[in-house]
Amino acid sequence: MSDVIADGLYSRLFDEAERARWEMADLPWHRIDRERVTPALCSLVREIAYSELTTTTATRRFLTELADDTDFTQWISVWFYEETKHPQVLLRWLRQVGVTVDDQFMLRGRATAPFMKSRIGTLVTNIISEMVASSAYTNLGARTSEPVLAMIVRNLAADEARHAASFYTYARRHLERSSDPDADRRDALKVLYVWFADNEQVRHPVNEFYARNAAIMTELDIDPRVPRDRIIQLIGTLLDLPLTADTDLLAQLRDVGPLPTRAEGQTR
Ligand SMILES: [Fe+2]
Ligand SMILES: [Fe+2]
Repeated sequence: MSDVIADGLYSRLFDEAERARWEMADLPWHRIDRERVTPALCSLVREIAYSELTTTTATRRFLTELADDTDFTQWISVWFYEETKHPQVLLRWLRQVGVTVDDQFMLRGRATAPFMKSRIGTLVTNIISEMVASSAYTNLGARTSEPVLAMIVRNLAADEARHAASFYTYARRHLERSSDPDADRRDALKVLYVWFADNEQVRHPVNEFYARNAAIMTELDIDPRVPRDRIIQLIGTLLDLPLTADTDLLAQLRDVGPLPTRAEGQTR
């Protein structure tokens, strides 16, 4: 008989999340430096908050489509809680500087693309997107001179990095228990290949955010580059493949099976 507390990943990830938690009530709103707030910065923060709203829909899908994984779906409660704080804290900062949004904004922001059929593909997509989000927040934190926003986005960068690590932990377990590890590794590699080879094909809120906001990020001198090398290496570690930034991912894919098709899941 299995022992859900000893065997599950949730207990450890829950404890890690509790230790790392930042408190909304600790943020020093009175220290906002309004001289450092520009319309372009407000537009960008509003767009970031908007793209963070998709968690609600994604959580519903995780709870439905991965309902048989009691361990993972418990952890999703932590993810959902933390991810809901992200748009909330950004909207609170915006309100402090005079920008408000309505309920329609909240509802529209929740729309998101369906998950792909492959469970490992979904997990790997989320590892990558959390790493991209973490890097984007780190870059914004380095560029903004508004101290409270800088503090907020440093918190969010740390949350996203921890989320990437947690999705990685579940992806690793999925592969260890897989009844068809070769098919799973192929699906994971497909996600990595499509993300970097043909980025616009991957429908994920993080990608859609970058596509919509390239100009404003340039205006604010924010580095739009994603940590491609680190992501490729990490997915290589996950799959026990020696992947580096120079690896020909298409050749790797040919080695493990048929090429990706646009009909699958989040690729359009
Ligand atoms: Fe987030
Ligand atoms: Fe996250």
